[in-house]
Parts: sequence; C-alpha cells; structure tokens
Amino acid sequence: MKNGTLYGVGVGPGDPDLITLKAAKILKQVDVIFAAASTKNSYSLAMEIASPHLKEGAPVVSLGFPMTRDKKKLADAWEKNGRKVVESLKKGGNAAFITLGDPLIYSTFGYIFHTIKETEPDIPIEIIPGITSYQAGAAAVGQILVEAEESFAVVSGALGAERLKDVVHNTDRVILLKVYHQYREIMDTLNQLGLASGSILISRCGLDDEVILRDLKEGFDTPPPYLSLLLIKKIDPV
Ligand SMILES: C[S@@+](CC[C@H](N)C(=O)[O-])C[C@H]1O[C@@H](n2cnc3c(N)ncnc32)[C@H](O)[C@@H]1O
Repeated sequence: MKNGTLYGVGVGPGDPDLITLKAAKILKQVDVIFAAASTKNSYSLAMEIASPHLKEGAPVVSLGFPMTRDKKKLADAWEKNGRKVVESLKKGGNAAFITLGDPLIYSTFGYIFHTIKETEPDIPIEIIPGITSYQAGAAAVGQILVEAEESFAVVSGALGAERLKDVVHNTDRVILLKVYHQYREIMDTLNQLGLASGSILISRCGLDDEVILRDLKEGFDTPPPYLSLLLIKKIDPV
C-alpha cells in the first residue's frame, strides 16, 4: 500500500482568521490530525484554531512528551511519537501535524520531521507555512520589522539572555521568543544594554486577552504568559 503524506501545518499565531486558505484546505482533506501536547496552552490553542476546518470524524491524536531538557528522554519520546505517526501513514491515509505559527520556527514539528526523515525517508512530507507569532506581533504594534539594508535575528530566550547578548550587536532588531521563563534576566539585560525603551512585549497576540507593553524601562513584575514575545529595536548604538 502506498504511504500517506504527512503535512506539517502552521495554523497561525492565535487569531483564528490568520490561518491560511491552504492550511484550511489540507485540514479538510486529511484523515488524522496530530498535535504535540507540549504545553496545554499552545496545544489547545492550535486545536481550537484547527477545529472548524477538520474533516468530519477525523481523529485528533495528542502526542505527549516529557517536560525535560534530558536529550535521551526527549529523543525516546519523539521516536515513539514518530512511530505512531508512521504507523498511521503506512495505513495509506494522509495526516496533518498542526502547530501554532509556522511549523519551521521553534516547533515540535521539527522533532517529528527529523525522526521520520531519518527512519522512513520514503514517507512524503509537505510543509504548509503559517503566519508566525512575530509577524502578527509586528502587525499588532504597527512596526516595520526591517527595511532597506537592515537585518533582524530571531532568538530563543528559553535559557536566558546569553543568545540575545551574542547577536544584538550584529543586527538592527532582535525578536525574542519564549521569554516567559527567564523574563527577569532578560529584562535586566535589556536595561543593561540600554534597549528597554526600544522594546515591546506582546502577549497572547491576536487573542481576546492580548497585552502590549511598550517602553519596558519599568519592566514587568509578574511573569508574562507563555505566549509572549519581545520586539527589540536598537534606537541608539549600544
Ligand atoms: C514553541 S514557540 C512557537 C513559535 C511558532 N511556531 C511561530 O511560528 O511563531 C512558542 C513561542 O512563540 C511565541 N508565540 C507564539 N504565539 C504567540 C502569540 N499569539 N503571542 C505572542 N507570542 C506568541 C512565544 O514567544 C512562545 O513562547
């Protein structure tokens, strides 16, 4: 039997109107939908966005993985999840793995993609790009991300501000995702580098409880929600 195709589908950053026509079309066709139960937050939101577009009766399978940085445990979990997806594709039906924003930007889709490419290279994989959180964030605050000869970098704040310090001197703007956990260290670093007043924190962009904080000199006392990002613009040379 011919293997089914796996579609990595970006469902956009949160606003249900920001899913693409192509993503909606693919979701209507596939026989099964997979989503990573990475954080309750992003899993349920991706599902909420996808739900109105699914084929009637198509099962939704949640793929769990341990909340750990232990590489071995993660690899084992993703191998197991990859096998589940492969078993389904080997029955011949097509499947979608849904992800918030774009599937190629800090997405759990990456784990499945690598696992299947390595273990079952004959299984076809197609990627349906999605509007990223930071594109939606820049639109929400009405800021051009880059123009003329400028450049920007997308950085993870999951482990703190070190990566931000590495890149900030070589680019015009930094987009920092995953800021919620290490927000105090990140805030301190922005202040030390004189970047706080040029930074905007955007939380839960496109959702009813969206929050936008401009000029972060005062910082923020409570941890921002998981779905939060920083747009950092260098105003003066640092
Ligand atoms: C695992 S990454 C997923 C990124 C996603 N694939 C994308 O293309 O934007 C999760 C991080 O994306 C950012 N994010 C995703 N959706 C967001 C939203 N609606 N508002 C603000 N930040 C968001 C946050 O920084 C969050 O910690």
